[in-house]
Amino acid sequence: MEKKNAAKTLFSETFGEHPNLFSFAPGRIEFIGNHTDYNGGNVIGTAIKEGVTMAFKRRDDYEINIISENKSLVKSKLEGIHKLENEDSWANYPLGVTEIFVNSGYKIDYGFDLAIVTDLPIGAGLSSSAAVELGLAVLLNDASSLNLEKHELAQLCRRAENEFVGVPCGILDQGVSAFGKSGNLVKIDCMKESFDLMPFTTNFGGINFWIINTNMKHSLVDSLYAERFEECKLALKVFQNKFPRIINLSQVDYEMLEICKSRLGDTLYRRALHVIGENERVSKLSKAINDYDCETIGALMYQSHKSSRLNFENSTEELDFLVNSIKKYASVYGARLTGGGFGGAIVVLAKSTLSSELENEICLAYKREFNIELSILCTRSEDGARILN
Ligand code: GLA
Repeated sequence: MEKKNAAKTLFSETFGEHPNLFSFAPGRIEFIGNHTDYNGGNVIGTAIKEGVTMAFKRRDDYEINIISENKSLVKSKLEGIHKLENEDSWANYPLGVTEIFVNSGYKIDYGFDLAIVTDLPIGAGLSSSAAVELGLAVLLNDASSLNLEKHELAQLCRRAENEFVGVPCGILDQGVSAFGKSGNLVKIDCMKESFDLMPFTTNFGGINFWIINTNMKHSLVDSLYAERFEECKLALKVFQNKFPRIINLSQVDYEMLEICKSRLGDTLYRRALHVIGENERVSKLSKAINDYDCETIGALMYQSHKSSRLNFENSTEELDFLVNSIKKYASVYGARLTGGGFGGAIVVLAKSTLSSELENEICLAYKREFNIELSILCTRSEDGARILN
């Protein structure tokens, strides 16, 4: 309610009238299955209670006006949407979604005013961009009575990011933001693009998800992500030379990996090893979730982080420091980097609430080491993108 009011106020102050449609789309935690999505593998995530709230109103003309907290108003026209640069580039997500809807033949024959507010930490790897995409997608779906299903909305939003924004991401972020459900994780088979809910009530038994944000991000994060994407493609080509029936890296097993070892070379070998290992950890973790075996879940999280550090090389000094520091607390089951990596946050699965004493200790140690403040967020699984009444 509070978030809806904030979006409403921003809308009214900016456009001088009242909005008539509202949406909310959550951020997500990547629980396990790192860089498996665009490799046709499996991944488990959860939508969280923090996200993006939007206030919207159709216009009688073809103008598009978008405002977000602490940003300047961005103006465009329905015909002639183009990618923006520099300080306006945040608006590429809603503009990209609009453009993809129009190009896909969905009837968007109007302009709109849109106000966006968020309580998601930006740059923490919680996918604020997918939340913005899904937030607008559910609004357009409703405003044009398109009756699109969740998986169609997720696919359109991913296309907006791939084709308009230019990031070669997989379906994880959009899929989890669309399919999230309170008290559940979302498991995605990215080859079939099927989405399953897995009950995991973290507050049962006093377990929580904690997000600890390093507040540090590699300046080249987008190009490093694209570089890993390309490396996975190159590794796939090597496997396909030997095993022509393979269509993605997630179909490779350890035996094939060893057979192709010398042809891959050290770097591509380790990238492929990470993807194979992550897929294996997703299936082990699924079983551990069914058994409510938090010890095993935690161990798999640590293994995942180690593989990121050594094989995929998408961790950072700060992320490693946090995972190592949190390990020694008895209340913690496991921790790993979450999302694309190269900065951002770790996700921690911890018994009860991490005591404030422990929170302070970590903050102080981190400050001492890097001279940066940490941000800590305790969150839970929540419902996916939706229209707010
Ligand atoms: C980012 C991308 C996702 C996924 C993760 C890594 O969050 O947007 O599609 O590739 O990185 O697993």
